[in-house]
Amino acid sequence: MESRTLGIIGGTGWLGRATAEALLESSFIKPDHLLISNRSGVSTFEPGVKLLADNQQLVDLSDIVVLSIRPEQFRELQINARGKLVISLMAGVSAAAISAATGADVIVRAMPNAAVEIRQSFTPWYCIGNLVERDREWVQRLFECVGAADELPDEDGIDYLSALSGTGPAFPAMLQMALTNQAVAAGIPLAIAQRAAQGVMVGGGQMLANRDPRQMIESLMAYRGVTAAALQSMADQGIESIVGRAVQAGAEVARRGL
Ligand SMILES: NC(=O)c1ccc[n+]([C@@H]2O[C@H](COP(=O)([O-])OP(=O)(O)OC[C@H]3O[C@@H](n4cnc5c(N)ncnc54)[C@H](OP(=O)(O)O)[C@@H]3O)[C@@H](O)[C@H]2O)c1
Repeated sequence: MESRTLGIIGGTGWLGRATAEALLESSFIKPDHLLISNRSGVSTFEPGVKLLADNQQLVDLSDIVVLSIRPEQFRELQINARGKLVISLMAGVSAAAISAATGADVIVRAMPNAAVEIRQSFTPWYCIGNLVERDREWVQRLFECVGAADELPDEDGIDYLSALSGTGPAFPAMLQMALTNQAVAAGIPLAIAQRAAQGVMVGGGQMLANRDPRQMIESLMAYRGVTAAALQSMADQGIESIVGRAVQAGAEVARRGL
């Protein structure tokens, strides 16, 4: 169990809260080594977890500071985190901007997704500054508490993956909605269309947890039947390039900065 103190600025938000809960549940950190701050003063954490209104006090009392606020809220934030390890979960805020605003010179940029809630996030992370080996292992273990994690070789990968894995349920939700709407347009009753589309996304997704998607497609194409015709139509219409352009559009926003 971690003996250093972790402070999460914005720890009552969607991502910060789910992360904090996972760290407590997995005993990665004890409640009295976890500090949370927000502006509203509202928290539903167990009593041992201290809620602070003063972000600088949180920084001063913490060994490691997590930034889990929105980029526009970060622009208003005034903290001096010199000498601290700062871990940012924010999309579209560069490590250089975080360093300039906080004074910290060791910055980890990490990009979890909403599946932190069910401990199935994939979290790529990248560090600028001199991260000692003990801290490198610690950061990796921290993000393994909410799913799987990998250290990236460069910061641009964070901006790119913000638009890919960072989007979490967004792409599946859009595909599920399209499948539902198309089934309804084809005359299937709404409730049945919804169940059919959900089955594709949830059941199919679970099957892919341990299977190679290319092999899956090849074996389905080999039947040369209904599924093959549908997949071939998607391929002919450029599904790869639609997906590629979508991720690039998001990545451009992340690279430009929020
Ligand atoms: N949600 C996701 O799936 C996801 C995925 C990848 C990355 N991210 C990144 O994670 C960050 C947080 O996103 P979120 O979805 O968790 O947002 P959120 O639910 O709006 O949470 C933001 C939290 O920050 C607090 N806050 C705002 N200003 C503050 C300040 N000055 N000092 C202290 N606390 C402050 C808010 O509480 P009060 O209003 O009480 O202050 C709230 O608890 C964003 O930068 C986003 O890019 C999110």
